This record gives sequence, structure tokens and C-alpha cells, in this order.
Amino acid sequence: MAKAKTIFFCAECGASAPKWLGKCPHCGAWNSYQEERIEKETTTETRSKSWSAPGKLDAPRAIPLKQIQTGTTLRLETPDSELNRVLGGGIVPGSLVLIGGQPGIGKSTLLLQVAMQLPAKILYVSGEESEEQIKMRADRIGTFASECYILTETNVSKMLNQALDLQPDLLIVDSIQTLSSPHIESTPGSISQVRECAGELLRFAKETNIPVFLIGHINKEGEIAGPKLLEHIVDCVLQFEGDRHNTYRILRTLKNRFGSTDEMGIYQMQSVGLREVSNPSELLLSQKDEELSGSGVAATMEGLRPMLIETQALVSKAVFGTPQRSATGFDMRRLSMLLAVLEKRCGYFFSMNDVFLNIAGGIRVDDPAIDLSIIASLISSLVDVSIPANICFAGEVGLSGEIRAVNRIEQRIQEADRLGFKAIYVSKYGMKGIDPGRFGIRVMTIGKVEELKGLLFN
Ligand code: TYD
Ligand code: MG
Repeated sequence: MAKAKTIFFCAECGASAPKWLGKCPHCGAWNSYQEERIEKETTTETRSKSWSAPGKLDAPRAIPLKQIQTGTTLRLETPDSELNRVLGGGIVPGSLVLIGGQPGIGKSTLLLQVAMQLPAKILYVSGEESEEQIKMRADRIGTFASECYILTETNVSKMLNQALDLQPDLLIVDSIQTLSSPHIESTPGSISQVRECAGELLRFAKETNIPVFLIGHINKEGEIAGPKLLEHIVDCVLQFEGDRHNTYRILRTLKNRFGSTDEMGIYQMQSVGLREVSNPSELLLSQKDEELSGSGVAATMEGLRPMLIETQALVSKAVFGTPQRSATGFDMRRLSMLLAVLEKRCGYFFSMNDVFLNIAGGIRVDDPAIDLSIIASLISSLVDVSIPANICFAGEVGLSGEIRAVNRIEQRIQEADRLGFKAIYVSKYGMKGIDPGRFGIRVMTIGKVEELKGLLFN
């Protein structure tokens, strides 16, 4: 009997090697190779000849680009407008969408909700929960508008046979790590299984034109477990994130072949499932009666949506030798950079102080326009002078302390105006061709971080 073939795969990038390697030559990761048994491959002889085989003219032919018709594929709109937005306007037929997230963040809830509310025929396959568990969750969420079928199956071939039989309008798989292919010997969740099952699902989606949603687990580094290859295979990668102790959840697009990757959807986890949050600013500004030092408001943009968000800093005397730096929802290195700018350019010293930074709502913000509000919060807490509650900020801070222009400044100003702010601080470089007088709100333009000192902290 032929010896079973084993191959070593890199868990980071999916590269393979016949022997174990300490360092992956492709991605440079250390100690990432894992052994896996795989099926017998076709011999190289048959492979090298396959392309020259005669009688293959029924295969798809190349078509001139200008002859390809567009606008014929209709997207399947879900009743969940946040999800539609993140997908770039509904579900594309035949697409494969991966949703990643930490355990317990609400991935199964989100997709079960879609399965229950989309007026179509849905097949929800779960390898994680029993039918009763799913029914109990469905009862919590409430109303049914769809023809939703539940299947508990982990064998990918059996599952796809059922799907072919049922011909649903959408197939949901919870999760890719529980699936296994009978052609491969390694355990479910291993690299070769994940790769094989995802490949199988991709072929299914493309051949039947049925869209497939896949749930994927996240490893402790916050990346989708299994090879990076999975992210290359699928059409769209969404990440469901949020602080477990907070009720807000964000659905972010990391990759989208059919739309922009700047979009995000916001939800709130409630006892009856996830609720869409269509007006995030009003929730992300903490309601407080008195003005406290260290708190500022940033006018940020997430995708095409303006969002006002509170930044809170606490600067206190360091008790131990090395001062602490801690940031929630903000990049630590960027915080160090902003602190260095404040020390070097404005003469505010933090080296004897602990610095804690928090973005309200447990939300991670990537928009650089939040910098100015963070700088203002840091100074405010250090000098213990509060920032008036009706002021907000939008500006990126550069290494020399200059306030840089940010995109879509008019939209940010309008949103701040709509929410009743009296003044907004923006970069003077970003107001070219825009008349500050035409907004109801006062627009304060500044060019350097130092200017904040005289304007706010005297
Ligand atoms: P779940 O969808 O199982 O998370 P995942 O599939 O990402 O692991 O969500 C689990 C959490 O959501 C659980 O801690 C309970 C909470 N939850 C609610 O608060 N309300 C609800 O209506 C539901 C269904 C779950
Ligand atoms: Mg789950």
C-alpha cells in the first residue's frame, strides 16, 4: 500500500513544504509549520498534459471585455440596511462572503437574523449548535419572514448535496472550522481542511450562483484562523468586532470585490438580538451634565458616514518608576507619537505621568482625523482644564505638530452642526474653496498644535 503523503503547511500564509521548517521562507513567520496528511495527488505526468488534451472546445472561451454585459446581476437586498451597506449594496449572486470575529461577539446571531428576516429560501448549516439550540435562539430573535431551513452537518460533501437538493437563495455556513472534507484526513479546522472546504464552497457558489456566507473564527492575534489563503479565496471579508463588555458591535469590510472597503455597520446587542444603529453619533457621545477635563469630541468619518465620537484621556501622576501608557480603541504607537509631538512642540511633559486613553463605545477608529481631539483631551487632562462640551475637532496631527487637512470636511462640519455643536476646530489647510460662513456652526481654523494652547487652555 502506498504510504500516506504528509505535507507541512505554514499556518500564516499557507505555503507548503515537504519537510518541517523553523522559519517560513515565504512570509518569514517562525515556528508556523504544521504537519498534515493529505490525499494522494494526481501524478505530474497527467497534470502536465491536461492543457493540451484534444476535444476540450466546450470549455468556456475568452470573450472580448467590451462584449460583456453588466447590470444584469441583481443583488439580493437584505432587510438589514447596515449589512447591505457593508456588502456594497446587497448580496451578489454567487459570491462567497467570510465573516470573522471573536467567539461570542454575535456572528451566529447576525447570520441567523439574516436567515430569518430575508424573504427568501435560506439554508442555515451549523456544525456548532444543535437544532434545538438554534430554535431557542431564533425564538429570542422573534419574527420569521423567510423560508429558513436548518441543517446540522459537518461533512462538506453531504452538506452541499443537501444544498443542491434544496436550491436555497442563500447558504449560510457556521463555521468553516467545523467543516471537513472526506477526501482529506486531517482534523476539522486544520489548514488543509479549511482550504479544501473553502475551495469546495467556492466552486459550489460559482457553479450554482447561490451566494454563500461563511463564519470564520479568529485566532488570538485577531486574524481569521486558518491560512491567509482563505481571505484570498473569498470575494468579501467582513469582520465583526466590538468590546464584549459593551453592547456595540461593528461590522467592518476588510475586503470586497463588489464594493468599497471603507464601509462599516453598527449594531447594538440586545436581549432580542442585534439592532441596527442608524444614527451612531447620538449614542457615542456620552451623556454627562458637567464638563470634565480630559474629554473631547472628534468628528470622524467611517466610510461615507460622519460619526461624532468622544475621546477621553486621563493623565495622572505615575506612582511607579515607568509611567504607564494604555489605549482602548486607539493605536498605542500613534498615542506615543502624539505624546512626543506634545512634548517637543508644545512643552507639555508627560514623562512623569500615566496616560490612559479611551474611545467611547469600545469602538476602534482608524480615521486619522481623531488625532486633534485626542491631543486636546490629553492637554485638557494634563492641565486639568475642561474643554467646553459644545466644541468638537477634526484634524490629523503631523510629526512637526502641524494640523493636516482631512477628507470630507464639509460633511463633518455639517454633522457637528446638526448635532448642535457650537464650534468645530479644523485644519486651516483643509478649508480651501470652502466658505466657513455658510455653516451655522463656528468653524475655527488652526495650523499648529501650539495654537490650541492659547485658544482653549489659558
Ligand atoms: P453568538 O452569536 O453565539 O456569538 P458567536 O457566534 O460570534 O460566537 O452570540 C453570543 C452572545 O450574544 C451571547 O453571549 C449572548 C448574546 N446574545 C444576546 O445578548 N442577545 C440575543 O438575542 C442573542 C441571540 C445573543
Ligand atoms: Mg457562533
